[in-house]
Amino acid sequence: MGQYSLFANVHFGAGKAKETGVLCRPLGRRACMIADPFFQDSGTLKEIQNALSKQGISSVCFFDFHSDPDCTEVDKCVAFIKQEACDFLIALGGGSCIDTAKAAALTAQNGGECWEYCGQVFPDGSNGVMRRPEKGALPLAALPTTAGSGSEANKGCVISNRALRVKSGIGSDCLFPRVAIVDPCLMTGLPPRQTAYTGFDAFSHAFESYMLNTTTYFSEALALQSIRFLGESFVAAVQNGGDLAVREKMANASTLAGMNIALTDTSVGHVLGQPLSALFHMVHGATLAVTLDSIVEWLLPTATEKLARVAAALCPALGGVSAAQQAARLPELLRELKKKTDIGGRLGDYGVKKSDIPCILDYVEEHVGLSSPVLTEYAKAPTRKDLEDILHASF
Ligand SMILES: NC(=O)c1ccc[n+]([C@@H]2O[C@H](COP(=O)([O-])OP(=O)(O)OC[C@H]3O[C@@H](n4cnc5c(N)ncnc54)[C@H](O)[C@@H]3O)[C@@H](O)[C@H]2O)c1
Repeated sequence: MGQYSLFANVHFGAGKAKETGVLCRPLGRRACMIADPFFQDSGTLKEIQNALSKQGISSVCFFDFHSDPDCTEVDKCVAFIKQEACDFLIALGGGSCIDTAKAAALTAQNGGECWEYCGQVFPDGSNGVMRRPEKGALPLAALPTTAGSGSEANKGCVISNRALRVKSGIGSDCLFPRVAIVDPCLMTGLPPRQTAYTGFDAFSHAFESYMLNTTTYFSEALALQSIRFLGESFVAAVQNGGDLAVREKMANASTLAGMNIALTDTSVGHVLGQPLSALFHMVHGATLAVTLDSIVEWLLPTATEKLARVAAALCPALGGVSAAQQAARLPELLRELKKKTDIGGRLGDYGVKKSDIPCILDYVEEHVGLSSPVLTEYAKAPTRKDLEDILHASF
């Protein structure tokens, strides 16, 4: 039962980026390539521009944005798109790049400033109604270069307002990229630390979307397959990023999980991650990795069957023991994963103090709200005290 809408048009495989020209032909004649600064002056970028050119598509590049893109960076991108008279966009980069492109595609089409579409808090301190993107968005092709955000296959983008210390987002069907070109060759140069952070993002998408009550058999299949791929490849991708077969599994895991958050949503981990990023500038993946095992411990013994399936997908060697035993092993499996991927696993590793907990919780109440469906529809709906306990347990 249920209605499933997935608009993603995904072209997957090693070498697919070479087909960008052909795949983008239906999108327009003048492309704004929003590219991660890592690819500036790279052979990859030149190859893609040549492939476009062969199809009669001219292109200009925009690199002026950072991780966790700020709304003012999107506004600069929109001005560039207009100045260069581009009729479609291509994003070559991680979640920050794809989200910059998505927000710019929408703002360029509808006018005004980016924050009007995503801001919940306006400069005068009021909580504003988000402006609706009545005119849709410019067409976008997304080429992810990290395996984490899954933004290439979903309808969301996450934008920060550093002046207001808020991270927010836009969710709209018009933000589905018209084409996603998922080429694991673009990911082999991602350093181990970034591979680890982004991998925890992919895992969190699969896990959180699976643990929501709004999940369906369809979305469960996507989530569990994503977790299986992560179990088979995550540690190896951190340790040997040049291994294309391993990168391919990570890319698959990320795209599947990204699709899944379009079908359901994210939940507790992302809700707590938002203030950790907005207030303490923690890297997105780290904000998720730090609380993961504490969230599972808090969930137990609720949803034992589901947690057992997650544990078995991540670690098939667990087969043969009872569901309760499998579920009980999950927090330890996640702590081992953090250790093996060598990232700081505790909140204190990122300079956050226990005395910061009240302001993190205030942020959640103000910007998400405890009655938001992303929390009330979770396998166990958290109270403020529950969130406080999870944060304490994450130190
Ligand atoms: N729209 C969504 O559905 C969604 C989902 C999750 C996260 N996000 C957002 O995405 C952003 C995080 O994206 P991310 O985790 O992909 O990281 P990112 O895009 O911020 O990139 C992280 C770092 O890796 C570098 N990099 C990227 N690709 C590389 C490559 N192939 N080789 C070498 N270096 C490379 C970048 O220059 C940057 O320094 C956050 O803003 C987060 O909120 C969005």
